[in-house]
Amino acid sequence: MRIDIITIFPEYFGPLGVSLIGKAAARGDIEFRVHDLRQWAHDIHRTVDDAPFGGGPGMVMKAQVWAEALEDVAPPVPGRPVVPGPRLIVPTPSGVPFTQARAASYTRCPQLIFACGRYEGIDARFIDEARSRMPVDEVSIGDYVLAGGEAAVLVMVEAIGRLLPGVLGNERSARDDSFGGAAAGGEAASAADTASAGDGDAGSGPLSGSGPLSGSGPLSGSGPLSGSGPLSGSGPPAGAGTLAGGAADADASMAGLLEGPVYTRPRVWRGREVPDVLLSGDHAAIARWRRDAALLRTAANRPDLIWRAAADPGALSGRDWQVLSAMGLSGLIRPDPAR
Ligand code: ADE
Repeated sequence: MRIDIITIFPEYFGPLGVSLIGKAAARGDIEFRVHDLRQWAHDIHRTVDDAPFGGGPGMVMKAQVWAEALEDVAPPVPGRPVVPGPRLIVPTPSGVPFTQARAASYTRCPQLIFACGRYEGIDARFIDEARSRMPVDEVSIGDYVLAGGEAAVLVMVEAIGRLLPGVLGNERSARDDSFGGAAAGGEAASAADTASAGDGDAGSGPLSGSGPLSGSGPLSGSGPLSGSGPLSGSGPPAGAGTLAGGAADADASMAGLLEGPVYTRPRVWRGREVPDVLLSGDHAAIARWRRDAALLRTAANRPDLIWRAAADPGALSGRDWQVLSAMGLSGLIRPDPAR
């Protein structure tokens, strides 16, 4: 994959030479080209911005500078747009959410071009014109405002890069991630092919937002996963053996759930023990325990994801429902009224 980054701060991207992503670049799996936007500014001060029409604070980046940059980085090809071809990604707090599904979809693009805006953003006409010749996504990494797109690009490049074949040492690692599993491979399949790139996990549906499970409720902080609850210590999780579904559905995709706690040696550390089931060698029981832990952590930290899963007929097994209900949670789940 080729990744072009256009910025007024090329030195910001030194970290791309480090760690997993740096190794992938050294192997040639990712080819980074970082460009200084000011090389396309023609006046003596190499100006890239100007005052906003309509007044207001701050400065707006000029369309002409950006257009010339894009034309050099991805020269226009006469005729129909090349598919698959370059894709322009503009980080902005006003964009669509960057999600695991979107990261996975971008791994199928041969060339990603990131346009790092600063100040109040880039003249909208540049983005409109770019859309006439390649897919363009305006993407936000979260509901907060950064000083520019550079830090957001580092975040996105790392999330995308680690999903490229051969970048993670162990392919399972990505599958078992929070938000991983099918979200990375299936649901996202169409995202890079469509200009709207609709994510299944965008945060604006009726299942998002805060609710009775959020904040400082019984599952937050030091809840049932933290030592004394049904998932800790020895023995199977609450109700194991009596619940429908059993171990088989423990292999279900973790898509849409947060990853639960993890442990390594020593088995006892400062008096704290690793849950026995993880030492049992019983792979089905371990998978089931991990799924239960994921459900509980998700309910505690991201109840919006549990509501979304509850509204998806295939997402939660009978056993999952019973785990949630054993924790007193099933009554709190609001089914999506639209379904
Ligand atoms: N630029 C400034 N804030 C941003 C955000 N939250 N996401 C992406 N780009 C940004």
